[in-house]
Amino acid sequence: MAAIRNSSEHQQKVYERWAPVYDRVYRGLLKDGHRTVARLASEAGREILEVGVGTGLVLPYYPKQCSVTGIDLSEHMIAKAREKVARNRLFHVRALQVMDAHRLQFADRSFDAVCLPFVITLIPDPERALDECARVLRPGGEIIIASKLGDGRGLQGAIEEAVAPLVHKVGWSSAFRIARIAEWVERRGDFEVADIRRVFPNGFFKVMRLRQLAGH
Ligand SMILES: C[S@@+](CC[C@H](N)C(=O)[O-])C[C@H]1O[C@@H](n2cnc3c(N)ncnc32)[C@H](O)[C@@H]1O
Repeated sequence: MAAIRNSSEHQQKVYERWAPVYDRVYRGLLKDGHRTVARLASEAGREILEVGVGTGLVLPYYPKQCSVTGIDLSEHMIAKAREKVARNRLFHVRALQVMDAHRLQFADRSFDAVCLPFVITLIPDPERALDECARVLRPGGEIIIASKLGDGRGLQGAIEEAVAPLVHKVGWSSAFRIARIAEWVERRGDFEVADIRRVFPNGFFKVMRLRQLAGH
């Protein structure tokens, strides 16, 4: 099978189309993952960066004492997030900016937690994006990832591979392997996998906590 290449241009085009209908389709399906991400991030500290903030579906779930910055490649998705922040008076959202996860325009050690809800599998170079997340994280901080993270095994793995070209067209990914994140952790040596939990529907999505080790 031909390799599927994520590109930022593809993502921008696809999510321009998704922006008007995204909430109606995904709010319920991703709610458990969204809540879990927000809770875990707030446990890591007050200063939070959300990468791939999209239409801002996670934003209402952060506790009010947090200070949340969101970035996304798509100005159309971010526009929806801005509407949501204004409409729901989400004063804990400090800034929403169009930005690429490969090049975060923040100083080193700026955040207690960096969240990537349902985005890591879509980023053309996820390892580079994770390096950027690590750079802007303060020592001891956490990277929280939610996505469809498969292990590639058995019938399910075969089906995920088979449908990958189809789901790619609509801006999703089915064949991203959790091993890719574990290998990144291993290679860097300054993070540990603190937790992996399964969330709705029926454990289909996973939420992964990566903690930066003390002394790094
Ligand atoms: C499936 S949506 C998830 C949105 C939101 N996090 C949620 O859970 O509802 C994926 C989002 O990632 C954004 N995205 C894709 N590639 C990106 C990149 N390289 N940098 C920043 N955002 C990106 C897309 O524009 C889209 O808004």
